[in-house]
Amino acid sequence: MSLAVIIAILRHSFPVTMPAQTPATLTQLQQRISQKQATIGIYGLGYVGLPLALRFSEVGLKVLGFDIDPDKVATLNAGSSYIERITSDLISQARAKGFEATTDFARTAEVDALILCVPTPLNAHREPDLSFIIATIETALPHMRPGQLVSLESTTWPGTTDEILAPRLAGYNLIPGDNCALVFSPEREDPGNPHYGTHNIPKVIGGTTPTCLDLGLALYQHAIAHMVPVSSTRAAEMTKLLENIHRSVNIGLVNEMKIVADKMGINIHEVIDAAATKPFGFVPYRPGPGLGGHCIPIDPFYLTWKAREYGINTRFIELAGEINHFMPHWVVGKIVDALNGWGLALKGSRILVLGLAYKKNIDDTRESPAVEIMDLLQAKGAHIDYSDPHVPSFPRKRDYHFDLHSVPLSPDTIASYDCLVLATDHDGFDYQQLVQHARLIVDTRGRLRGGQGNVVAA
Ligand SMILES: NC(=O)c1ccc[n+]([C@@H]2O[C@H](COP(=O)([O-])OP(=O)(O)OC[C@H]3O[C@@H](n4cnc5c(N)ncnc54)[C@H](O)[C@@H]3O)[C@@H](O)[C@H]2O)c1
Repeated sequence: MSLAVIIAILRHSFPVTMPAQTPATLTQLQQRISQKQATIGIYGLGYVGLPLALRFSEVGLKVLGFDIDPDKVATLNAGSSYIERITSDLISQARAKGFEATTDFARTAEVDALILCVPTPLNAHREPDLSFIIATIETALPHMRPGQLVSLESTTWPGTTDEILAPRLAGYNLIPGDNCALVFSPEREDPGNPHYGTHNIPKVIGGTTPTCLDLGLALYQHAIAHMVPVSSTRAAEMTKLLENIHRSVNIGLVNEMKIVADKMGINIHEVIDAAATKPFGFVPYRPGPGLGGHCIPIDPFYLTWKAREYGINTRFIELAGEINHFMPHWVVGKIVDALNGWGLALKGSRILVLGLAYKKNIDDTRESPAVEIMDLLQAKGAHIDYSDPHVPSFPRKRDYHFDLHSVPLSPDTIASYDCLVLATDHDGFDYQQLVQHARLIVDTRGRLRGGQGNVVAA
């Protein structure tokens, strides 16, 4: 075992009694960060990486963005955007301040910090797929040098930073706390929320050693108003999972309550509104057609998988997943019943799904329950179209074979469908027009309350 490794282990084991003395290579990094001379490398320029890149650029740091998708790189370098809520103006402003995107990972040598924002999906067996993280670090490593900081932002199971990244760095003689820094700092985002963005959402961070943490804090503090240090990378990894599991479990609960209330002829939304008047001890969660997005349907199973290694079955998490997973099927059952009430069969019916994005007022269709509902309806012989002002087209995908364009809404088009399914209640829809001209609307969001005869709650 090298001396550097022994020092790193000792520091990790005795963080309080043995205050970290910053080694020379890291002192230089510290200076470059504090003087805003550090170049930031963002790996993965998607929903998480791109806003972060723009934020670091906005506060005056040089940013180099890395992505394996040459189309994204070309679009950014041309000063354009591919994410609806990020305007091309913002990209152009960053370009003017030196922001550049590249597919050339050899340029890793130019950066002081590598911030990894790559996907962490589930594989076909619904197990964690870390292949993107591993591919990114293994492509970057041959071009890394002592004196760099690595920050993982992708959501993942507790231990990933220690067990997946640290050994790979050590393979290149890069020892966290000694000649490089390693931190985990999860992304938090609420797409479409006008009050919270990258700069003012408090950000949790844990370091492999106290020195790593100090360097990570110094870096992020340039861009983020409030940093929340925790004692280890594992604590930071677990924090992110707790946040998302908390949502998944509570949404599972209200979805179950919705099914019960529906059977009893009670409007669940009225009940939640009433319960939410309690000034303490109740947090309102809204039921819907199922879970969507890149986080809540996926992340809980990162913990479930890791917990098995410790002999623990995470029954609560699995149960919430089961209920949430069932919701699109329940909605389809309600559509079948609603059509039946009008003397129509699902097979051969013309159905227009309103809102394809997984939540309102955004353009992200990943894991959207609306898409699953469309798929289930089509498999039963319905003719499917959709309308979504944020999603102009929905091309063929790996899991789904639709090749559709958003239908513009007019009184005539609305009236031409047997049934409208409100899957996502974008504010841009004209609800009065919908209710006035639709033959039948199945509302999965509780948006159309008030007893209109053609509206069925689902
Ligand atoms: N989107 C959210 O709201 C959100 C919120 C919190 C956390 N997260 C987490 O952040 C991570 C990234 O999510 P996202 O939504 O930004 O994903 P995304 O799919 O929007 O973007 C990922 C980007 O990484 C690129 N990429 C893939 N492999 C790469 C590689 N080897 N090197 C460089 N780039 C590569 C892809 O081309 C893509 O542009 C995930 O772990 C996710 O769970 C996402």
